[in-house]
Amino acid sequence: MATTKPSPVAPFQTTWWQWIEYYYLLMLHGGFPFFWWIRPHWKPSQMGDKRGTVVFITGGNSGTGYETAREYYLHGATVYIGCRSDQRATDAIARIKKGGRCNMYGEFEYETPNAAKVGTIEYINMDLSDLDSVERCANELKGKVQRLDMLFANAGIMATDPGQFTKQGYPLQFGTNTLGHQRLISLLLPLLKQTSRETPDSPARLISLSSVGHVFAPRGGINYEAIESRTELDKWAAYGESKWGDIALANFVNTHHGPGSPNAIDGEIITFSVHPGVVATNLSRHLGGVEAMYKLTWLTPLYQLQPYDGALNQIWCGEVSVAEARRMSGSFISCFQTQCPARPDLKNKVAVDRMWEWCDAQARKTE
Ligand SMILES: NC(=O)c1ccc[n+]([C@@H]2O[C@H](COP(=O)([O-])OP(=O)(O)OC[C@H]3O[C@@H](n4cnc5c(N)ncnc54)[C@H](OP(=O)(O)O)[C@@H]3O)[C@@H](O)[C@H]2O)c1
Ligand SMILES: *[C@@H]1O[C@H](CO)[C@@H](O)[C@H](O)[C@H]1NC(C)=O
Repeated sequence: MATTKPSPVAPFQTTWWQWIEYYYLLMLHGGFPFFWWIRPHWKPSQMGDKRGTVVFITGGNSGTGYETAREYYLHGATVYIGCRSDQRATDAIARIKKGGRCNMYGEFEYETPNAAKVGTIEYINMDLSDLDSVERCANELKGKVQRLDMLFANAGIMATDPGQFTKQGYPLQFGTNTLGHQRLISLLLPLLKQTSRETPDSPARLISLSSVGHVFAPRGGINYEAIESRTELDKWAAYGESKWGDIALANFVNTHHGPGSPNAIDGEIITFSVHPGVVATNLSRHLGGVEAMYKLTWLTPLYQLQPYDGALNQIWCGEVSVAEARRMSGSFISCFQTQCPARPDLKNKVAVDRMWEWCDAQARKTE
C-alpha cells in the first residue's frame, strides 16, 4: 500500500510585502558596484593587534579566504588555512608572507610586511568533499592548537557541472559547501566552546560564507529525497541549496550555542553568515556560455568587486566589537557590514535542526 510520508517541516508562512522587502534588500546589498552609494564603512587597517588569536580558514588559498588569511597574518594572528591542494596552499602562504594582495585579474601587488607585527601561517590538508579528510583535518588542528577563536567556513564551489559526487556519494555542491563544513564545525565545536569558557570576554566566532544565491534553494531549503536518490538538481538550484545550508549551519549553532542560548553556559559561540558581494575570484572562472559575463575585461570592475573588497564583510564579522557581535549573532551580513534578511524559511527552526541532524546522521554512517 502506498503511503505518503508527511513532511516534518512545516511550510513557512510569510506575507507578500515581506518577500518584496527581502528581494529589494538583497539586490541593493548584493555588492554590485553600480549601486555606488553602498560602500564599505570599515577597513582591515582598523584591525588591532591579533597576537594570541587563533584563526582557521577553509579555502584560504584563494579569493576571499586568501585575503582573510593575509589580513589576520599581517595583524599578528596564528593562522591555519585548510586546503585541498598542498601546492596551492604552499604558493598562497609564500605570497602571503611577502604581503601579496591579489586583484581580480590574478595579479599580485606586494607590500613588504612589518616583520615585528606579523603572526604565523600554516596549512592543513583538507578536502571538504571527503568526510574522512575533514575529520583528519579537525584532528590535526586539535593537535596543534590550544584554542580556536575564529572558524571561517569559507571554501566553496559554485554551479559545477552535474554528474559529480563527493567521495561518500553526495551531490558535489551540497556535499562540499554544506555537509563537509557541517562535519568540520561539529568536530571543532568543543574547541570553540572551550575557548569561550577560557576567555568569556572574547567568545569564539563561527563565520559561514553563504551567498544571496541561497534564494535559488528548493522549497523548504534542502531536497533530501533528491540527495538520497542521487537525483540532480539544476546546477544553480544545487548551489542555492548548499548556500541555504551554510546559513542554516550558522543559525543552528547560534540557536543552540549562541548568546543567551541554553548551552551558552558552557561556552557561547557567536555566529554570522555572510554574503561577500559579487566578487571576481576563481569561483566563477569555469563558467561559460551566457555566464561568460564573468569573463574578466576592463568592464569587470563595473559589476564585480575586487577579492580584497569581497573579504571585508567576513573579516569585519571577526572584528566587530564583542558587544555588537553578541547583539547581531545569528544574522546574515551583506554588503557592506549590513544585517540583511535571509530567506524567510531559514527562520524555521525545525527545518534548520533537521538539516543539522541529517548531516550528523551521515557522519555516523561512515563510522
Ligand atoms: N565570489 C563571489 O561572487 C561570491 C558570491 C557569493 C558567495 N561567495 C562565497 O564565498 C566563498 C569563497 O569563494 P571565493 O569567491 O573566494 O572563491 P574561490 O577563489 O574559488 O575560493 C574558494 C576556495 O574554496 C576551496 N575549495 C573548493 N572546494 C574545496 C574542497 N572540496 N575542499 C577544500 N577546499 C575547497 C578552493 O580551493 P582550490 O583553490 O583548491 O579550488 C578555494 O580555496 C564561497 O563559499 C562562495 O560560495 C562568493
Ligand atoms: C586563483 O587561483 C590561482 C591558482 O591557484 C591563484 O594564483 C590566484 O591567486 C587565485 N585568484 C584569486 C583571486 O585568489
